[in-house]
Amino acid sequence: MSKRMWYDSFIRSIIKFIGNFAEGAEISTSRYREYMENTEKNILLAESDIQEKVKELGKRISKDYEGRELLVVGILKGALIFMADLVRNISLPLTLDFMAVSSYGASTTSSGVVRILRDLEQDIYGKDVLIVEDIIDTGLTLNYLLANLKSRQPRTLKICSLLDKPTKRVVEVSPDYLGFEIPDLFVIGYGLDYAEQYRQLPYIAVLEE
Ligand code: PRP
Repeated sequence: MSKRMWYDSFIRSIIKFIGNFAEGAEISTSRYREYMENTEKNILLAESDIQEKVKELGKRISKDYEGRELLVVGILKGALIFMADLVRNISLPLTLDFMAVSSYGASTTSSGVVRILRDLEQDIYGKDVLIVEDIIDTGLTLNYLLANLKSRQPRTLKICSLLDKPTKRVVEVSPDYLGFEIPDLFVIGYGLDYAEQYRQLPYIAVLEE
């Protein structure tokens, strides 16, 4: 191949590569738009309602723990978004840690099986611990976590959950701080998923069956 032919074919490959990339970006943008439009039809809690509630919860927590230092424990992955907004509304010295547990597979029903996928990094002995959850459903996850964390002897152990579905309760657990009580609907967004999708929605929507 002459130098000139090699140069032409090199330029053509670059143009083809950029073309493919642009086409891919267009497809993913339209898929994203469709994804947002479908969920926007079924909004249960708007972004503004959630943000207002998060501010209110942050204020209450800051007042209740005044003069103390908090250890905020987020239960991954669902609590991630709520926790990030909540701690930015708490005016106390605090540290963060995470636990990951699993109680659901890729379905909308609870299996009731709780597994620890990731444990805390720090010792909670003598500390004021606040567990942050996105939702309490059957209560099995929190029931297990409370017993597990209590045995490590924190000074106090409280729960803050964004959502509560009391009609689905199997074991008695109630949050010390609650955002919203909701009916028995499968909800997605603001950290909550269906088959790992939809967590990034800024609102909470009802998944169409
Ligand atoms: C969800 C949610 C709670 C739990 C509540 O987690 O985040 O941890 O289920 O259900 P329960 O009261 O019936 O036990 P999930 O197992 O779906 O994992 P995720 O947070 O990673 O989405």
